[in-house]
Amino acid sequence: MNLGDSAFLCLDIGSSAVHGVAHRVRAARIVKSAMFASESFDTVVAIKSVIDELESQIGRHFDYAYITGNFGQSDFKICGKSTIWSNEHKINASDIKNQISKIVTPDGFFPMHIIPLRYDSPHMHNMLSPIGHVDNQLLSTYACIFYNVSSMEEIASQLRHAHIQPIGFYDSQFVLNAAYHTPHEITMYIDFGAQYTTASIWSDRGPLWHYKTPMGGTNITQSITDEFNIPFIDADRIKRAVFTMVPTPTDRFTPADIAFDFSRADVNDIVVPYMHDIIEDIKLAALPIIEKHQPARIIITGGCADTDDVTDFVSNTFGLPCESMHGDAVVRALGEYIWNSCAVERAKIIARNDKNAKRIDYILKMFHRKPKKRHTFVPILPSSMCFDMNNPTTYTTFDAAGISMIHIDIMDGLYVNKIAGSIEQIRAIRSRTTAHLHVHLMTESPNAWASDAIAAGADTVIVSTNTSGVKNAIRTIKSSGRRAGIALNPDASPTILKPILRELDEVMVMTVTPGAAGQEFMPACLHKISILAATRKKYGLKFTISVDGGINDKNAQMCWDAGADLLVSGSYLARSNDFPVAVQSLLKKQ
Ligand code: DX5
Ligand code: ZN
Repeated sequence: MNLGDSAFLCLDIGSSAVHGVAHRVRAARIVKSAMFASESFDTVVAIKSVIDELESQIGRHFDYAYITGNFGQSDFKICGKSTIWSNEHKINASDIKNQISKIVTPDGFFPMHIIPLRYDSPHMHNMLSPIGHVDNQLLSTYACIFYNVSSMEEIASQLRHAHIQPIGFYDSQFVLNAAYHTPHEITMYIDFGAQYTTASIWSDRGPLWHYKTPMGGTNITQSITDEFNIPFIDADRIKRAVFTMVPTPTDRFTPADIAFDFSRADVNDIVVPYMHDIIEDIKLAALPIIEKHQPARIIITGGCADTDDVTDFVSNTFGLPCESMHGDAVVRALGEYIWNSCAVERAKIIARNDKNAKRIDYILKMFHRKPKKRHTFVPILPSSMCFDMNNPTTYTTFDAAGISMIHIDIMDGLYVNKIAGSIEQIRAIRSRTTAHLHVHLMTESPNAWASDAIAAGADTVIVSTNTSGVKNAIRTIKSSGRRAGIALNPDASPTILKPILRELDEVMVMTVTPGAAGQEFMPACLHKISILAATRKKYGLKFTISVDGGINDKNAQMCWDAGADLLVSGSYLARSNDFPVAVQSLLKKQ
C-alpha cells in the first residue's frame, strides 16, 4: 500500500447488502474515514452505490480494494505435512512454501487462507516458527479455508461490472477473528448472512473449525413470501419489523403490517423455528470441537445479530456468553486488519517524518529563524445547538479561534423532550470541516444512533446514562475505531460507571440537566470531576474528562481546577461579540 497519499476501500459483499469502509491515508496516518452500506439484492448496483458514496466522502478515487463477504460454498481442512532430510538441515522459508504447495485443494475449490497451526521437529516441539531451526524433519499442521471457484468467479465478475479491481480476498471469519480474538482464549464466531450462516472456532494459532450452512435470512423471507403469498420485498420489511425470538401473547392479536391481515405471531411462527434450525445445525456440527476446546465466548455478527433476543438465544443454546458486534462488524474488522497489517511500515515512515521535521527545526534555529509555530490545541468545544452550522462563516470563525473539536448535540424527543440535531446534520457538518466531531447523543437506543452517527462522520460519540444498550453502544463505537464516552447526568453518581470505566475514552460530566442550551451551571456537579480525576489517577486509566452545560468565564477555571480536560460551551460563546476572545477567556489560567 502507498502510505504517502492514497485511499483504500474495504467491501463486505453480501447477497442482500454491501457494506463499505474507506480510509484516506497521508504520511502513514489515516486522515479521513467513511462508512456506508447499501441494501439491495442486485449486488452490482449495491457495490456501485457504496463506491460512489465513499469516494465522494473521502474525496478521491480508491487506489486499493480489499474484499470479504459471501464467497459461496466453503470447505475447511486441517492438513499435516512432513518433510524429512537425510542430514541436519537449517529450515528456511522455501521449506514452508514447499509444504504448502503440497496441500491438496479439493476439486473446484480455491485455497483462500492457509494458516499454520503448529510446527514440530524431532528435537523441538510446538515451535512458533521453525525458520532457522536445524533438524532433519519438520512436521507441520495447517488449517486451510477453501472457497468454491465458481462462486469466486461470480463475485469477481460482479466487481468487474462495478469497475473495481480487487487486490485481496479475505474470509469473513478470518477478519472477524483478527479483530476480536482475545489472546489465550478460544473464541467462536457466528455470522448470520442472507444466504449462508457461517461459524468458526479459533485458538491463538488459527481456526480449529470452520463451517458454512446454506441457511440464512433470505430463506426466512422466502418462507414468509410463500406462506402469505406476498411480494418478497414486503416479506423482508415485515420480517425486520416483527422478528423476535421471544414473542409475547399479544402478538396473536397484533397485525404484522397495516397492509396485510396476518399477525406478528403468524410471522414469528415461521421465523423462530427457522432460527432454531440454523442454530441447532451449527450446534450439532460444532459440538465435538466445543467439548474438546471449550470456547470462552461466542461473537455474533450479520443480519439478525442486532436483535438482543438472538444474543440471549445463542447464549442459552450453547451455554456460553454471547456478544453481538452487529451487522457491519465484518467490514470494520477488514478495515482494521488491512491497516494493522502495514503497522511496521507505517511506524518507520512516521519515525522518518518526525526525524526530518526535527532536522528542519534544527536548521532553522541555526539560522536564528523561529521554527514555524506549531498549532496548540484549544480544549474548548463550541456546541452546535447555539451556532448556525449551515453558515460557512461559522467555520471560519471557529478556525480563527483555533477550534479543532465541535460538539454536536442530538436530542430525539424521547430521552429529552426536545428534538434537535440529526444524523443528517452530522453529515452536513462533516462535509464542511475536518474538525473532530464530538457527538453528544441525548437519545434512547444509543446503539442504533451511534452506528448512524459514526457512518455520518462522528469521531467521538458520547452516549447518555439511563438508556438501554449503553454497553453495546460503547462496543459499537470502539470497534469502529472511534472514541467512546458516557455523559454523566447531574443526578447520576460516577460510581455507576465502575463496570465500564476501563472501556471508555471519555466521561462527560453534565453540569446542566440535558435537554436545552442556555441553562445555569450547577456547581454541585464539580466534585464529580474531582472524583473522576482521582479515580483515573489511582487506577492508571486514560479517559478524558469533559464538562458540558452552562460553561462561561466565571466557572471554567473551577472545572479546570477540578481536573477537566475539555470544556463544551454553547450560549456563552455564541453570545459573545468577539468569538476568539471569548474562547481565550475559557482557557486554563496557570
Ligand atoms: C445541553 C447540551 C449542551 C448545550 C451547551 O443539553 O448538551 O451541549 O448545548 O450549551 P450551554 O453552554 O448554553 O449550556
Ligand atoms: Zn451537549
